[in-house]
Amino acid sequence: MAREIEKQIEKLREKIREHDYLYYVLNQPEISDRQYDKLFADLKKLEQENPQLITFDSPTKRVSGQPLEGFKTVRHAMPMLSMDNTYNADELRAFDERVRKQLEGMDYDYVVELKIDGVAISLRYEDGLLVTAATRGDGRVGDDVTANVRTIKAIPLVLRGDGIPAVLEARGEVYMPTSAFAELNKVRVEAGEPVFANPRNSTAGSLKLLDARITASRNLSFFAYATGEVSEPLAENHYQTLQRFKKTGLPVNPHVKKGKDIDEVIEICNSWNEKRLTLDYQIDGMVVKVNRFDQQDILGATGRAPRWCISYKFAAEQAETKVESIEVQVGKSGILTPVANLTPVLLAGTTVKRASLHNFDMLAKLDVRSGDSVVIEKAGEIIPQVVEVKKELRPSGMKSFKRPDECPNCGSAVAKDEDGVYIRCLNPDCTGQLKERLKYFAGRGQMDIENLGSALIDQLVEEGLVKNFADLYKLEQSDLIELERMAEKSADNVIKAIEASKKRPLWRLVASLGIRHIGGQTAQVLAEYFGSLDKLMEATQEELADIDQVGPTMAKSVYEYFRDLKNKQVIDELLAAGVKPEKPKTRRSSKLAGKTIVVTGTLEKFTRQQIEQAIRQAGGKSSSSVSKKTDFVLAGDNPGSKLDKAKKLDVKVIDEKQFLELL
Ligand code: IVH
Repeated sequence: MAREIEKQIEKLREKIREHDYLYYVLNQPEISDRQYDKLFADLKKLEQENPQLITFDSPTKRVSGQPLEGFKTVRHAMPMLSMDNTYNADELRAFDERVRKQLEGMDYDYVVELKIDGVAISLRYEDGLLVTAATRGDGRVGDDVTANVRTIKAIPLVLRGDGIPAVLEARGEVYMPTSAFAELNKVRVEAGEPVFANPRNSTAGSLKLLDARITASRNLSFFAYATGEVSEPLAENHYQTLQRFKKTGLPVNPHVKKGKDIDEVIEICNSWNEKRLTLDYQIDGMVVKVNRFDQQDILGATGRAPRWCISYKFAAEQAETKVESIEVQVGKSGILTPVANLTPVLLAGTTVKRASLHNFDMLAKLDVRSGDSVVIEKAGEIIPQVVEVKKELRPSGMKSFKRPDECPNCGSAVAKDEDGVYIRCLNPDCTGQLKERLKYFAGRGQMDIENLGSALIDQLVEEGLVKNFADLYKLEQSDLIELERMAEKSADNVIKAIEASKKRPLWRLVASLGIRHIGGQTAQVLAEYFGSLDKLMEATQEELADIDQVGPTMAKSVYEYFRDLKNKQVIDELLAAGVKPEKPKTRRSSKLAGKTIVVTGTLEKFTRQQIEQAIRQAGGKSSSSVSKKTDFVLAGDNPGSKLDKAKKLDVKVIDEKQFLELL
């Protein structure tokens, strides 16, 4: 009898999974909602009567009963990168040119997808069971939102079919259908709760709820579009991978198309410019990907984004408003930026009060004046900008804005960048610049010093208490209490937060220095590569430029930063004040110490990123071009011209097996 019930339960579960698949993946439901609900109710009843037979992967167990206390963090097995953007056909063609050049005469094709405007999620399946769901976070470490993601019915708790790799990470976008978003806001208005600005915000908010029961009520959905770590590749190319996803029960957007060349890609992209309004989810553009994985590997990635894919953003939403005044701000590297203060206006779901005018050339070209009626636009994530001045509506007597000939903060001389558009304040001690540098240093993506906000930094600089990064670590409670609006308790909190930042990981310290062209991703690459601040500071420009994800401009910038005596002195003071960055955790061996290795062709056991990491971790250096200094070339299948060059220069060539033996 017990066996009978167990069988019955398993049969019901299978049926429900099958209907989920027909509904969410194939979009071909075979039963009515009522019939589905009946199956569900039957299963629930049997499980209630036989609680010993309840399993975690049962369709009834999507929602956990207990709210969480907080979110744990998860380190991604492979980083979740971002994507470079294009805004018109010419930029797409330029992308295609770069791809063509790097693929050296190979044939290639593209896959074109919708760019879903939701929240990126990495789903980790082990032996076919969903074990973790994580947000992108900073790309390396995200939040564990498994409990919430399990409530999304489009996401299978168990993968179906044969041949599922032991580890399969599927990445994709969780989104809220526009209709569900409208409904949610309606309910919130009625309940007197604040509304969400747009479906993306409501998706993000729903994934960050501590109570999964509320997430379950939010009607989120999901499309898979990439793999993270996989123990065996699902296919040879991206398009086939998406087909495999569908077979395993992971929903894929139905509008994915192959494009045989860039003309076809552009045509597909343009066809969605208006059609997008017919969809029940928001897209903010298209995504174009090189199809073959071996070619994706050849193209590789920069610190922040792969070179084999690009997004194509649709023209942004616009709104009309008035310029109330124009002011000039000083940035952390001295750049003076004109900013328009606007009559508040609603644009793409948020209220906009200010818009950047970017630089004085742009300001002069647009001829924006105080009192003008202007059209503003939000392009992607970027801050709103003025794109047009309604000259016919201009009130008489408004003068054009004069380019400043001195810094609005310190009154020092300014100069225009050579071959550039920016005007900079030339005073290295300008307190306006210092404030911005400190705000960046303490910011969330850098040293993450809680309680050290913008207003406090302004005060600290104005009172002369802080003249550089190191001075922050010399502050005492008594210094802070002197400041306006600072009670003992808050002063304590600030000191504690500064103290806590002393042990941040090395990459955060590197990122916080504000070295030009070096953001968080590149700082991570540098920290992992060099392992210590000393080593990074000693690196030569050539050594830096040789790191695959560091370009020549970045290399020059890092090198010059650490040659500046003033910068060096501040770093010495930081270390003396007790800043002791945590070393990167990667285990290093010395099997390849001092060796420079060039990889070409497709490897069986490693992706391009993995092999570079393996070389680094064994103390070696991977380089992208063969020279006499190369110790050996590791050649996989279909090696490129690098192999020929190695032979010509008499550089040793080894295969993957020999490489593994070396390790
Ligand atoms: S591929 C490194 N495909 O866009 C690129 N991303 O701006 C791997 N996104 O973080 C992602 N639709 O959240 C890819 N069809 C699609 C996408 C897509 C939306 C999001 C994703 C990513 C962001 C980058």
